[in-house]
Amino acid sequence: MKFNVVSLFPEFFASPLDVSFVGKARRDGLVEVALLDPRDHATGVHRQVDDAPYGGGAGMVMMVEPLAKTLEPLAHTHRVYLTPAGRPLDQATLDRFSNMEEVTLLCGRYEGVDERVVEHFIDEEVSLGDYVLLGGEVAALAVIEGVTRLLPGAVGNPASTEHESFRHRRLEEPQYTRPAEFRGWAVPDVLLSGDHARIEAWREEQREQRTKDRRPDLIED
Ligand code: ADE
Repeated sequence: MKFNVVSLFPEFFASPLDVSFVGKARRDGLVEVALLDPRDHATGVHRQVDDAPYGGGAGMVMMVEPLAKTLEPLAHTHRVYLTPAGRPLDQATLDRFSNMEEVTLLCGRYEGVDERVVEHFIDEEVSLGDYVLLGGEVAALAVIEGVTRLLPGAVGNPASTEHESFRHRRLEEPQYTRPAEFRGWAVPDVLLSGDHARIEAWREEQREQRTKDRRPDLIED
């Protein structure tokens, strides 16, 4: 699978794409990431990529020409614009992207991009959540990480992505590891019982209770 990341700050991605899981997946050839800087298509002595908004207002808007020249040759890919105005990212969206061959992620900065870019060169708008960041870069990294771990061959045990949170609209149960007691804080007895039916029943109850307490929307929707 290939990602094209369009960003004015390609250096933002260096270490997140090199370390840990995504770093290994790239070295193994499972996923490829190309970084594209729209400034390479900027014209004029100042190589300007943003300008003041028509109609006035605060901030700057990313200009249509450098983005058009960057995104037009990527028409064969699924082109996603990361913006707080998009549909909130969820597991179903990551699943869908993980079945695509090539996904392009456009990171906005400032007040966003000229709307003509969205109209003519973007297939889908995605938000990381209901809050405003400085740009789409962190959201693009979230997509890359969330998709990479779903790719066949990326996770040792495929069951570990099948049974996780959100696929079944439930939060996961709490986990413990050794020691069984630390500073008098004991691991729940049932987990040490060796009784697998009781353990699964306890886990199921924990998932239901946590979801009810923290994310009732997952149950009600
Ligand atoms: N750019 C700024 N805020 C964002 C958000 N919440 N999601 C995606 N891109 C963004």
